[in-house]
Amino acid sequence: APIRLSDYRAPAWRVERVELVFDLDIDSSEVTSRLHLRRDPAQDETLRLDGEGLDLLSISLDGVALEPGQFRLVDSALEVEGVKDGSVLETRVRTHPAANTALEGLYLSGSREAGFLLTQCEAEGFRHITFFPDRPDVLASYTVTLRADKTRFPVLLAGGNPDGAGELEGGRHWARFVDPHPKPSYLFALVAGRLEKIERDYVTADQRPVKLVIWSEANVIDRCHYAMDALERSMRWDEEAYGRNYDLDVFHVVATHDFNMGAMENKGLNIFNAKYLLADPDSTTDDEYRAVEAVVAHEYFHNWSGNRVTCRDWFQLSLKEGLTVFREQQFSQDMNSAPLKRIEDVSLLRRAQFPEDAGPLAHPVRPAQYSEINNFYTATVYEKGAELVRMVSGRLGTEGFRRGMDRYFARNDGRAATLEDFLGALGEANGVDLSPYLSWYAQSGTPRLKARGSFDAGKREYTLTLSQHTIATPNQPETQALPIPVKLALFHRDGHLLPLHLDGYTAGETELVVIVDKGEQQFVFRDVASEPVPSLLRGFSAPVILESQSSPGDLALLLRHDVDGFNRWEAGQQLAVAAYEALRQGTSGDAVSAWCDALAALFDDTAVDDALLAELMTPPGEIELAEREREVDPDLIHAARRALQQALAERIGRDALEARYTALAGETTADLDAASQARRRLKRRVLELLSLLDASRGHVLATLQYDNAPSMTDRLAALSVLVRTDAPQAAAALTHFRERYADNPLALDKWFNVQTQRQGAASLVRVQELERDPSFTLKNPNRVNALFGAWARSNPVGFHQADGAGYRLLAERLVQLDVLNPQVAARLATAFNGWRRLEPVRRERARAAVEQMAAQPGLSRNLTEIVQSMLRD
Ligand code: ARG
Ligand code: ZN
Repeated sequence: APIRLSDYRAPAWRVERVELVFDLDIDSSEVTSRLHLRRDPAQDETLRLDGEGLDLLSISLDGVALEPGQFRLVDSALEVEGVKDGSVLETRVRTHPAANTALEGLYLSGSREAGFLLTQCEAEGFRHITFFPDRPDVLASYTVTLRADKTRFPVLLAGGNPDGAGELEGGRHWARFVDPHPKPSYLFALVAGRLEKIERDYVTADQRPVKLVIWSEANVIDRCHYAMDALERSMRWDEEAYGRNYDLDVFHVVATHDFNMGAMENKGLNIFNAKYLLADPDSTTDDEYRAVEAVVAHEYFHNWSGNRVTCRDWFQLSLKEGLTVFREQQFSQDMNSAPLKRIEDVSLLRRAQFPEDAGPLAHPVRPAQYSEINNFYTATVYEKGAELVRMVSGRLGTEGFRRGMDRYFARNDGRAATLEDFLGALGEANGVDLSPYLSWYAQSGTPRLKARGSFDAGKREYTLTLSQHTIATPNQPETQALPIPVKLALFHRDGHLLPLHLDGYTAGETELVVIVDKGEQQFVFRDVASEPVPSLLRGFSAPVILESQSSPGDLALLLRHDVDGFNRWEAGQQLAVAAYEALRQGTSGDAVSAWCDALAALFDDTAVDDALLAELMTPPGEIELAEREREVDPDLIHAARRALQQALAERIGRDALEARYTALAGETTADLDAASQARRRLKRRVLELLSLLDASRGHVLATLQYDNAPSMTDRLAALSVLVRTDAPQAAAALTHFRERYADNPLALDKWFNVQTQRQGAASLVRVQELERDPSFTLKNPNRVNALFGAWARSNPVGFHQADGAGYRLLAERLVQLDVLNPQVAARLATAFNGWRRLEPVRRERARAAVEQMAAQPGLSRNLTEIVQSMLRD
């Protein structure tokens, strides 16, 4: 039965303090736990502790061993009779780290001989380590003692401050850690093994000396320096932007190649998927560098938004994740180009979250129910959640938001809070009622905002009519209007901004925010001399789908003149969509020439930033375009999008493209400054366009670029062009890449990834060959995602083969993967999310594949929930 938000009850038993002793080894580890228990006097409940897959070795209450009749092991729980307020329950259990392929709880990373032990507890992994009330509203103080063989496990780490270490008999040693900040069990962590470190001394703004330590296996420790710099930048930024200081004497960060997610914010001991921690120019792309910086910041920011103030229950997950993603986005905007970051964030939202919100897995940012919480670490909870925080921060303004956040942290420090606590504190600190925004957290689906403008020359009035509608879904037959802040400006047709005169708003501003909170509203702008061009939803002021009636001419004007960097790009995207639609209908239309002409002009305009130009020259991706269709045929979408790019390439012309490419290639370095990154981004785009016009010339240039690349960004871009365009030179480059990076799993992942992007049916054949490669394994999540994830999500034509062979292959692998790692299997299964909107032939084949999975006996709860939801009408 699913767990429901409305069923929440405060815990009957709390743990005030927990003492844990670990005797660690690869195959078998023993965990002794002493829980100091407190009873809620208002509830009369038997003590019930969560525990899964544990061998119970002994149990005693207040120093007396319990007889079998005094406790019960019932479905994933331990019930104990006769416990009193203040009792101490001691259990000793055994777990099996090396056999733990789910990578949840205590597990082994790497080989038995050389690997190390670590834990992942969020959301409910702690119950795989010991018996405990494994829920985020039970906050306890932790004392953790680790014991292990000193040669095999020279490094012993747990969260909190170090509190002693020493030798034991038989070549063993111990180390103790005390965390002074009460925390929920999902923030517990330990690491043990042979690891190297880099260190840095840091002093917080409130004068606490902190030792920052990054740990990894010896062969990659040299690739941790960038992360260390990023960590220091993050810590300074949180002090300045939010007044938040770090609160322990040490901050440990550990890299592992075996991790289900990106990274984890365990108190004082963050653990990272190596993909988001290691970086060096030879094997890391520019995009990955920015991702490392962002994830390091994200996990660090959790220390306040997540750890000091945690979540009352998992329905409130976005309280920490949406907020922390928002803080991470702000940080990245400050460290890099702000408009580009906004463009990337909105692109991600459209690519990952909009389809989720429009399909069978749609759920509100605060879901009402779940059966497996790990299935709710979604783009909706994270990315849409961040957009909701952004909307509220926009409503309060920079200072008001800071005031509200100070209030939120002060009032909820050391507590397990709710979204009501969050909006309540922000609102109260500013004397505004933010409760209308709660409806955004409760309703799923992306609202559609329609805009119509009409101009009355006689009255010199421009009337903007904005209406909203959210499509009903099976779980949500009724939808309501939400408060939608629409930031807007009006342009004169000569390209300058008009001063705005709208009743109730300061006159003469050139930009203002109106809130649309009813089905339909009108806004009458006075004193408008000629019909203006509206620029709406500037900066993407709300996560909605804007349906405006802007003509190609209006959009071209905004693309040329809008000073809001985001909306300038957005006008280009809308124009590209109009052009794409025209090509889909087989007409050439005004839009195609309008888009191509506007971009050709920008291409010659040296004032445009290279990276922005690269983004402007990229039409919305195939996944985004598919969202517009009633019945999706990936082949048709691919063909029309390609035709659009072909038209752009022709309009700019071969000579101009090659001249630009040569100029950009002449300045090739591996430098990481913004201008160098921007050049590489544009160079890649130009090479792609050039290859559309003259494939063999493109192949020659790409091969040269590959051979001479000083950075992974250039090398991988060239390789990708060779593979995607079926160049005869691709095979040699792939062989070279493979050999060069044989010992670098993250680079090898790129070798798998890039080959999934072969055109058409060839990709399926290649995927099947690649899974027989000796270095492929279903046991490593990064490898699985590099092969099956990249193929199913980023190569729609390849995956959605009309005969359904792609669907069958993925379904078959998912069933096998589910036995090893249910979390990763369930996540990958969401690649079938859009099956219902496929054209009929593919739809039936996809349905068959999903049904075939559903029919498998013994599927995990994770995968069951995903496939059942996808099959529900
Ligand atoms: N809290 C982590 C983050 O920073 C994500 C961990 C999720 N893990 C999981 N197994 N669901 O976003
Ligand atoms: Zn997070």
